[in-house]
Amino acid sequence: MSRSAPLLQVASAVLLLLVSSCAATDHIVGANKGWNPGLNYTLWANNHTFYVADLISFRYQKTQYNVFEVNQTGYDNCTTEGATGNWSSGKDFILLDKAKRYYFICANGGCFSGMKVSVLVHPLPPPPKSSMTDHTSAAAPPPIRILGVIFGALLSACFGMD
Ligand SMILES: *[C@@H]1O[C@H](CO)[C@@H](O)[C@H](O)[C@H]1NC(C)=O
Ligand SMILES: *[C@@H]1O[C@H](CO)[C@@H](O)[C@H](O)[C@H]1NC(C)=O
Ligand SMILES: *[C@@H]1O[C@H](CO)[C@@H](O)[C@H](O)[C@H]1NC(C)=O
Ligand SMILES: *[C@@H]1O[C@H](CO)[C@@H](O)[C@H](O)[C@H]1NC(C)=O
Ligand SMILES: *[C@@H]1O[C@H](CO)[C@@H](O)[C@H](O)[C@H]1NC(C)=O
Repeated sequence: MSRSAPLLQVASAVLLLLVSSCAATDHIVGANKGWNPGLNYTLWANNHTFYVADLISFRYQKTQYNVFEVNQTGYDNCTTEGATGNWSSGKDFILLDKAKRYYFICANGGCFSGMKVSVLVHPLPPPPKSSMTDHTSAAAPPPIRILGVIFGALLSACFGMD
């Protein structure tokens, strides 16, 4: 067995942990209060950071409420003209696949009772700069050096992902 095998095992375990912590976040609107009247979703949104590939999910009574993706006019005025999407399953997962501001409202009058949320989706952090020239990595044996580079990349990719 190679001398570096135990270290590689530990490193692989850490790698797995890092990968799972990098998974896209599902932002549950209103957290345990869900999508309901009388809440201020601006406060909820201000408490979250959204990145491309994250999900936003709405939990609500499907017989009473729904979700429409609208533009700023629709958000400001509680109108659904030109809506680009609508959901009504009661448990809707919506992929935030673009770096832009999204607007969601409830039709059926819910919007006028505060059921509107706007979220700014940030681009993913830029790819990490090459760490190949890093002195400590370069001095380590090749397998360790490669792991170091992977760790560096993952850490950069994960930075601020929460
Ligand atoms: C929600 O909170 C924000 C931030 O404090 C505030 O500007 C806004 O007026 C509130 N909205 C309502 C409907 O109370
Ligand atoms: C903001 O996040 C903190 C920590 O998760 C939580 O305790 C607090 O209730 C949140 N506030 C709002 C308005 O969601
Ligand atoms: C809201 O609607 C009014 C007219 O109904 C319009 O003048 C106004 O521009 C709309 N708001 C936005 C942000 O466009
Ligand atoms: C939103 O969509 C409506 C209907 O298509 C349009 O009249 C309005 O100008 C749009 N508002 C914005 C801010 O793009
Ligand atoms: C909801 O979305 C579907 C397409 O997914 C569309 O056919 C329908 O017209 C939309 N409903 C409203 C009220 O905009």
